[in-house]
Amino acid sequence: MTTTALSFVHRFEPATAPGRPPLLLLHGTGGDEDDLLPLGRMLAPGAALLSPRGKVSEGGMPRFFRRLAEGVFDHDDVRARADELADFVAAARAAHGLAAPVAVGFSNGANVAAAVMMRRPDTFAGAVLLRAMVPLPEPAAGGLDGRRVLILSGSADPIVPAANAAALAALLAAGGAAVDHRTLPTGHGLTQGDVALARTFLDTLS
Ligand code: MLT
Repeated sequence: MTTTALSFVHRFEPATAPGRPPLLLLHGTGGDEDDLLPLGRMLAPGAALLSPRGKVSEGGMPRFFRRLAEGVFDHDDVRARADELADFVAAARAAHGLAAPVAVGFSNGANVAAAVMMRRPDTFAGAVLLRAMVPLPEPAAGGLDGRRVLILSGSADPIVPAANAAALAALLAAGGAAVDHRTLPTGHGLTQGDVALARTFLDTLS
């Protein structure tokens, strides 16, 4: 595991199974660069893992962009932070010789991944968005060119309304993505069902 002088504090684990796309792991509010490494290893054994820490601090809790309240986002900040994250991915790919990663984001990390897909469609080869919401009010820029996106929502999620998750699926599909949106009988937290579906999805991308 190494850390290079790129623009985000991050962890990088090189691939041990060439051929799998790298994963970009994006944590939820209060997480950090270590949080999702075990999940990444479980979802795509042997894939390179790139895991940045969000630069925004909310009362000491790292996030990837500012929010005004739960579910109410500072859209100018979302746009700027999404672009900065896309630039980080490009720099990390050059530094480590990586193919385009598949984003695996949870909650706030899923939301910033969706914002990157809306604004910089070439950044990711695909995405797994866990408990994601619509991050920006405008349409996606387009150009997602059939990139595959798995959105996993929870039917009892107190943070993400079902209509919001459905709107995100429609928005990314309108931008050109091939979206598979599933809703699990659970809340905001991740379950074994999420892991199983995400793992199968990632296996089919390899
Ligand atoms: C969170 O707690 O991270 C929210 O549910 C999503 C967000 O603020 O982006």
